[in-house]
Amino acid sequence: MTTQLTIPTSVPGRFGPYGGRYVPETLMVPLYELERAYELAKSDQSFQAEFQDLLKNFAGRPTPLQFASRLTAKLGGPRIYLKREDLLHTGAHKINNAIGQGLLAVKMGKPRIIAETGAGQHGVASATVAAHLGLQCTVYMGTEDMARQALNVARMRMLGAEVVGVESGSKTLKDAINEAMRDWVTNVRNSHYLLGSVLGAHPYPTMVRDFQAVIGREAREQILNAEKRLPTHLYACVGGGSNSIGLFHEFLKDSDVKMVGIEAGGRGNALGEHAARLAAHQGFTGARRIASNTACADSSAGMMPSIWLSFVAASRASLSQQAQYSARPRSCSQACSGPTEA
Ligand SMILES: Cc1ncc(COP(=O)(O)O)c(C=O)c1O
Repeated sequence: MTTQLTIPTSVPGRFGPYGGRYVPETLMVPLYELERAYELAKSDQSFQAEFQDLLKNFAGRPTPLQFASRLTAKLGGPRIYLKREDLLHTGAHKINNAIGQGLLAVKMGKPRIIAETGAGQHGVASATVAAHLGLQCTVYMGTEDMARQALNVARMRMLGAEVVGVESGSKTLKDAINEAMRDWVTNVRNSHYLLGSVLGAHPYPTMVRDFQAVIGREAREQILNAEKRLPTHLYACVGGGSNSIGLFHEFLKDSDVKMVGIEAGGRGNALGEHAARLAAHQGFTGARRIASNTACADSSAGMMPSIWLSFVAASRASLSQQAQYSARPRSCSQACSGPTEA
């Protein structure tokens, strides 16, 4: 089966109905500059050599593909493997993208990076890469998230980053993004916005996907070595969508490989109770905050906190039958029969 995503889009940064660039005038120039820098970097051998070197010798790639023998035995069904991105330096896949964009900031002559973070992992990865490359780093984080993730806040500060607490709105990720955008608009000349997932305006989603696609390239080779065949299913959690598209991308042409993205089901299916845009049937497509994507809004059109996340991953669900998105509420016990499929 051929899917739309395997057909190159004629307009860069468009994924079917998703994507694009809806930004204030002041951001058009830095986005063009970033797009150009990224296009050049793709064929720049010194950039690619440095990127690969840092992935290997700084971050610790390749990560293992571990056979989960006990889980496999307990479930008594398919053979389950885990792609161990948690074994990377700083503890998550976020470092892959942070290295790529950190190197681009250096190439563009920008001495400062701005980042937003929710769980803290992207902030820690950005602070770590900034320290390594000699860049200044400012990380915006909602104060609710700062309290929840105090350890990661301490790590960022130890690495020399300035962590700015955001008190507005729900004091979480979306408010941190607003503040990071304000900072970027004000300081575009010397600052690069190191976005942490497949979201935002072109070229971010494409670029972040490319920086994360190493996950799937390794996984494909590793599973072929281990099992002499492709997997039947790939599973990934979906927050902003970077680890999922990083894993899925290399398998998009393999129509027999099913892909399942798992979103946060929260307290229940009601609007405002969860963070699932794709699986919860309340999502709609709209252009909001710099790109067209899937969002949730309440009856007064107030955007829900989980908005504007991955439309690269979203387009998988919308444009083909290959990917499914599911969300399971926190209270869901074993009695729940299975995921809700979008
Ligand atoms: C360890 C880890 N996994 C997954 C995610 C979700 O992000 P994404 O969907 O972009 O991979 C995060 C976000 O901070 C994370 O820290």
